Amino acid sequence: MKKLGEEYLTGLEQIDAEHVHLLDLIEKTRNLLEDENMLFKCADIRVLLAGLKDYTIEHFAHEEAYLESIGYPGLYAHKIQHQLFAQKLVELTKEVDRLTLGTQDDMIRELFEYLQVWLHDHIKIEDMKYAKFADTKA
Ligand SMILES: [Fe+2]
Repeated sequence: MKKLGEEYLTGLEQIDAEHVHLLDLIEKTRNLLEDENMLFKCADIRVLLAGLKDYTIEHFAHEEAYLESIGYPGLYAHKIQHQLFAQKLVELTKEVDRLTLGTQDDMIRELFEYLQVWLHDHIKIEDMKYAKFADTKA
């Protein structure tokens, strides 16, 4: 199992474990992008997107329930970010049917780059905000 860098750790065991799962999915996306032996990648893209959707539903629900339980003042804004992520997945999933051999890698690259930014901007910045807030309440 992969490990998160310290700057990504919220200190909440379950949430950190779920973030590791996200990291694995990002890694899988990178592997799929770099796989030059595979001809048709659409089935794998679907599996990836479905995995991300499942992750999203479960993980965001856990996080939001936790934030509510500690009375986190930024909960609403945080929820919006989660919704935007879910929306992006829906958009990408809709595009899978239209992919061709010539465009499939562009879509995987778009997903990969989106996930990389998410990992940085959301986990490292936004999730750390509630981790700090939780610390002050402990
Ligand atoms: Fe979050």
